[in-house]
Amino acid sequence: MIMDGNGRWAKNRFLPRVAGHARGVRRVRDVVKFCLARQTRFLTLFAFSTENWNRPENEVSYLMGLFAATLEGEINKLWENGVRLRVIGDRTRFTPRLQALIASAEARTAGADRLILTVAANYGGQWDIQQAFRAWMKNQWPSLATGGTLPEPSEIDLKPYLSMAYAPDPDLVIRTGGEQRISNFLMWQSVYAELYFTETLWPDFDTAAMELAFAWFAGRERRFGQIGQQQRATAC
Ligand code: IPE
Ligand code: IPE
Ligand code: MG
Repeated sequence: MIMDGNGRWAKNRFLPRVAGHARGVRRVRDVVKFCLARQTRFLTLFAFSTENWNRPENEVSYLMGLFAATLEGEINKLWENGVRLRVIGDRTRFTPRLQALIASAEARTAGADRLILTVAANYGGQWDIQQAFRAWMKNQWPSLATGGTLPEPSEIDLKPYLSMAYAPDPDLVIRTGGEQRISNFLMWQSVYAELYFTETLWPDFDTAAMELAFAWFAGRERRFGQIGQQQRATAC
């Protein structure tokens, strides 16, 4: 879920941009409830990109504060509803307090498994591929030190090293706010995702809007490079 359009939602109401972010939190609650009701196993929210640090300082610090407050306020409810929280992205840039909050929220819900709610914070698809490659290289060192050679590039499997190695690739990527781009979201993982773009701004993206996105998804024919007939034969 690329939750975009908060700033414009606020601007349309002559409010400061951050008011849109605050309002957006309500929609997060709705979407989580919707996914629980639909037995969706994985929901991933793009909350803050590696590029979002370039925003005005007051907006960045507001977003960090909102993230911390939301974690504190919602984590018990998430746990009670069987939601496991995971955070992907480079968290070392966050304040020690926020890092500690994230760690304790993850630990608190670690035993839940109805819905895996991943929040992408200080996340970028390019960062993810870089860190996966670094981790993969590190894994090769012991073999290299004892005279081994690097595998052929075609044999490199980065999937186990990517930050969402615990989840299947996304089936559906929804972007609100009208832009038709990925903006450095799950670059590697989204190769075969269905892309749903809607003009609706994130603070207006209610359950009915989510229904529409799911209905649209249900009508897609997913071919994964094959032809439709092959897919239908496998389904039978
Ligand atoms: C998305 O809304 C939220 C974040 C990137 C944190 P925006 O803040 O990008 O809203 P617009 O695109 O300016 O309307
Ligand atoms: C994408 O929104 C990032 C998040 C929703 C967190 P942006 O508003 O940052 O994307 P661009 O800058 O319009 O591409
Ligand atoms: Mg935006």
